[in-house]
Amino acid sequence: MAETILVCDDEELIRWSLGEQLRGEGYPVVEAVDGRDCLEKLRTLAPALIFLDLKMPEVDGMTVLRTIREQDADLPVIVITAHGGVESAIEATRLGASAYLQKPFDLREASMAAQKALEDQRLKREVTYLRSRQPTGYGEIVGDSVAMRKLFDTLRRLETIDAPTVLLQGESGSGKDLVARAIHRRGPRRARPFMEIDCTALPEPLIESELFGHERGAFTDAKATKRGLFEAAAGGMLFLDEIGELPLGMQSRLLRALENRKFRRVGGVADIPLDAAIIAATNRDLRGEVKAGRFREDLFFRLHVVPIEVPPLRERVEDIPALVQFFLDKFNRSFNREVRGVSARAMERLQQWRWPGNVRELRNVLERTIILLPHDLIDLPDLPAELRGEPARSGTVGCPFVLPDEGVDLEQVDRGLTEQALTRTSGNQSAAARLLGISRYALRYRMEKFGLK
Ligand SMILES: Nc1ncnc2c1ncn2[C@@H]1O[C@H](COP(=O)(O)OP(=O)(O)OP(=O)(O)O)[C@@H](O)[C@H]1O
Ligand SMILES: [Mg+2]
Repeated sequence: MAETILVCDDEELIRWSLGEQLRGEGYPVVEAVDGRDCLEKLRTLAPALIFLDLKMPEVDGMTVLRTIREQDADLPVIVITAHGGVESAIEATRLGASAYLQKPFDLREASMAAQKALEDQRLKREVTYLRSRQPTGYGEIVGDSVAMRKLFDTLRRLETIDAPTVLLQGESGSGKDLVARAIHRRGPRRARPFMEIDCTALPEPLIESELFGHERGAFTDAKATKRGLFEAAAGGMLFLDEIGELPLGMQSRLLRALENRKFRRVGGVADIPLDAAIIAATNRDLRGEVKAGRFREDLFFRLHVVPIEVPPLRERVEDIPALVQFFLDKFNRSFNREVRGVSARAMERLQQWRWPGNVRELRNVLERTIILLPHDLIDLPDLPAELRGEPARSGTVGCPFVLPDEGVDLEQVDRGLTEQALTRTSGNQSAAARLLGISRYALRYRMEKFGLK
């Protein structure tokens, strides 16, 4: 899809002729009638190029150009100056205009200037794209931030250590799985098995037989002897995911096995040596869980040998460009697309977002965006509504409001909306209740609670 061009001039004839010319060349064109209109359209559109008249009433072109430059250092702008307006043309170039046209200008000259500006822009993007392609990270783990480099240092040290007990802590989606696998793949046990269990996935008795195995007849369903994960992972590694969710009874059994370096199958009498290296992961604050009595302190210390914190994405926004590039390459390959990159302002927004779901959320956002992208550059309007800070369409999530980063006082919101509904309906309770989608009873309850009359 061709890139949109915004034509801003207060002279209708110029808008019209320039518009016709560019449309004729296949560009979608949007017109703005003055500086204010131009800035407004910029907020909702993502033009690839602007033709900007310098002399306009109210907000003049130079002010518009300055405002554009504050928001977007790269957007190409071709200024249109009055005949002989060389001085203002120089000033505009100093402010980063890509070219200027003097009135009256030739339409072919205008369209050549447009093509050149767009081409330059393309090349510039190509360069940033290439520059950001240098791989940074550790194996498959992408990262460039100080925090991640520190983490990679730790991982490098672990490469030569046999059977380290590692405790991975980090928010959901921050990359704990990835780190666990990397430790195995790069370590001395790389040729031996990597087994994993999600401690939330099974009820307690099943976790037990899953981990330790069981003898035939140990319980009703135990038709045959089964080896558990500890045996299967012998010589290799056992990844205990979501260890914070392990029931207390199982915590004791696990601790005993780790302390004694041996265990028994459920219903068995023979001691089996424990020869699996343990990597445990949790997205909970395990120390807090210990304090709250939900996690055994002795097990915590037993696991807390090599503690690794995987920092949340919002604390390492420097990683975002590299991660974006990584996922772009990945999804380009899987969807057979050639998306080239992300515009500066879209990248800025990606770095401002708080990413409660961390890298997993970033990955999902990019996947979704790339699938739906009608062109080959991700710009602000292409990002999901919640990231643009616009209310999500009701019906998609069912909630027309977006929770701000700093949170809200729900009670205050409730009170405010109730008050507004009553004011708008001049106190008509049935109408106000309808506006709020609640019963009159619920409305009266709120009026009482908030002291509204
Ligand atoms: N640094 C990174 N580089 C590349 N991909 C990453 C990185 N961190 C996470 N990912 C990707 O993000 C997704 C989520 O990561 P992962 O499953 O490791 O998170 P987690 O911390 O184990 O989450 P949970 O607590 O929910 O289990 C995966 O697809 C993973 O490949
Ligand atoms: Mg995980």
